[in-house]
Amino acid sequence: MAPTSPRIGLIGYGYIGRYIYEQIVTRPELGLQIGFVHNRSAEAVAELPTDIVLEDVGDFAGCGVDLIVELAHPDVTRLHGESFLQETDYMPLSLTAFADAELDDRLRNTAAKSGTRIFVPHGAVIGLDALEEGRETWEEVTIRMDKPVRSLDLSNDPDHDAGDITTRTTLFEGPAREICPRYPRNVNSHAAVALAGIGFDRTHCVLVADPDLEASIIELTAKGGGVEVQIRRENPMQGVSGVMTLMSSLASIGRAKAVQPGLRVC
Ligand SMILES: NC(=O)c1ccc[n+]([C@@H]2O[C@H](COP(=O)([O-])OP(=O)(O)OC[C@H]3O[C@@H](n4cnc5c(N)ncnc54)[C@H](O)[C@@H]3O)[C@@H](O)[C@H]2O)c1
Repeated sequence: MAPTSPRIGLIGYGYIGRYIYEQIVTRPELGLQIGFVHNRSAEAVAELPTDIVLEDVGDFAGCGVDLIVELAHPDVTRLHGESFLQETDYMPLSLTAFADAELDDRLRNTAAKSGTRIFVPHGAVIGLDALEEGRETWEEVTIRMDKPVRSLDLSNDPDHDAGDITTRTTLFEGPAREICPRYPRNVNSHAAVALAGIGFDRTHCVLVADPDLEASIIELTAKGGGVEVQIRRENPMQGVSGVMTLMSSLASIGRAKAVQPGLRVC
């Protein structure tokens, strides 16, 4: 007998949220079902069947979902992450929230006490499995990201204004702990690398704005104990998110939860 498909709650119905919703409802072979969709502005979800729209996120527990996926803003994790984890598993895409060490601790402690799990989706970065596996080995981990200026939100950067950037410019170089609050919508990849590898204080980050680029380019290097990993990924941009992020987010949800039979890459 086929197992029941896990119920997925989606927070955020924008570029990524819409894609995930459409894929889950139109492709039963994925082995997932929608438990609810919540978006801050109600107009965005007006087109959806009313029975799946969750107006007040505080009512999430009544929906009986097996996983909540945040595809909205780091504030969601700050405000609701602990409540979610008291009830169910949680996959935040806006991973920059974890650069707040106190929040990170509270979330991990809540998950440990409640027997729930926090899933870190790899998003635009590949090789996080290897990074995690070698965590004890790495002496240094560096993530460098080059992005088109139009894909960057510089509203928390006191030193740069997007309108003034006409040539390739290094916006930031330093630890993941510091880059995340400065570019919270743009450096989720850096946060994912920090979480998978050697943490926010030891992960070295570089962010470059390039007016001539159309894609986001990520270069990841990890070195230690004679081992060296180098990964480069180029990803065309749509708003603040890369195109491959759609496929990768869906695949991460599937890896975390789907129950369909057949070959599975793990
Ligand atoms: N982990 C990764 O690799 C990765 C990659 C790309 C994007 N992201 C992050 O995922 C999130 C979604 O990306 P997107 O491209 O779909 O963005 P988007 O702007 O297209 O969509 C976000 C949606 O969430 C809604 N929203 C915003 N704040 C909310 C809140 N507090 N509560 C409920 N709804 C809220 C907005 O109204 C919008 O509909 C962003 O925070 C982005 O930084 C992560």
